[in-house]
Amino acid sequence: MSTAGNDEFVRVAKLGDVPAGTIAEVEIDEQVLVLANVDGGLYAMSAWCTHLGTSLMLGRLSGCTLTCYAHLWRFDVRTGEPIWPPMARIVPGYRLRTHPVRVEGDEILVSRRPGRPSVS
Ligand code: FES
Repeated sequence: MSTAGNDEFVRVAKLGDVPAGTIAEVEIDEQVLVLANVDGGLYAMSAWCTHLGTSLMLGRLSGCTLTCYAHLWRFDVRTGEPIWPPMARIVPGYRLRTHPVRVEGDEILVSRRPGRPSVS
């Protein structure tokens, strides 16, 4: 892993590492993130489910929905917002932390700083 451009964005993977419809685990500093490729749009979010902390790498991506393996909570990878259960949509604190993503050539870069994801 190395920095590129400025210190905020870090190269984490190559485009070929995350084909459309798949997820990959990456690390920045000591943060474990999931990268999701939805029809070519790349999104980065915390790898830990906001319900009880299960790794979302065990989950399943379908369209823009990532379903946690443990209790089937669902999240929109574009925003980090919970989709199901309905309670998680109205109670604060269940949104996944997201990070902006950008692509340079065939490299995927993710911001160290959380923020709204940028569509690639
Ligand atoms: S830990 Fe993810 S749904 Fe319960």
